[in-house]
Amino acid sequence: MSKINVAVFASGTGSNFEAIMEAGDLSCNIVLLICDNPGATVIQKAEKYQVPTFVFRSKDYVSKEEYEKVLVEKLKEANISWVFLAGYMRIIGPTLLEAYEGKIINIHPSLLPDFPGKDAIGQAYHARVKTTGVTVHYVDAGIDTGPIIAQEEIEVKENDTLESLEEKIHHVEHQLYPRVMKDIVKK
Ligand code: GAR
Repeated sequence: MSKINVAVFASGTGSNFEAIMEAGDLSCNIVLLICDNPGATVIQKAEKYQVPTFVFRSKDYVSKEEYEKVLVEKLKEANISWVFLAGYMRIIGPTLLEAYEGKIINIHPSLLPDFPGKDAIGQAYHARVKTTGVTVHYVDAGIDTGPIIAQEEIEVKENDTLESLEEKIHHVEHQLYPRVMKDIVKK
């Protein structure tokens, strides 16, 4: 049986993208990286793994609908079945949500519904919670909402700094996302 194609969306460093690429057989082909930030280091990572990349800038389009129409075209051209957001810092609009209904997944560095939005690790750290974690969930129209697929808890120790907490969270993300990806693409 031939493997289905998936795309990763990212805006920044791409450590999750790299973890996905290094995870071995995920029962799917990662055939496209979509990036909304021409300065993002994830672009070099995609080059290293020879993953075709589509880079765009939202400000070059009149609306979210206009750029998402282009993204849907790119996804269809590459025969993409699932979309995995890995640090993609834009809200997904109706154009993409309707074209890929139930097929867009996100990873977020907190135990949702706690600390949605930007800087979730910093939010949790400054709130002095004892436990935080990582969530993988289906994407809906909200910000980091949508049905939860998997969560992993991480203890915040007395001596944790923001940096040490970030490191622990990223480590968990890098294990969890490829695992969930492998499971979900079989559905
Ligand atoms: C990750 O921690 C991811 O969970 C987070 O952005 C980071 C991207 O890191 N995503 C969100 O906050 C989504 N709301 P990376 O570019 O090194 O993979």
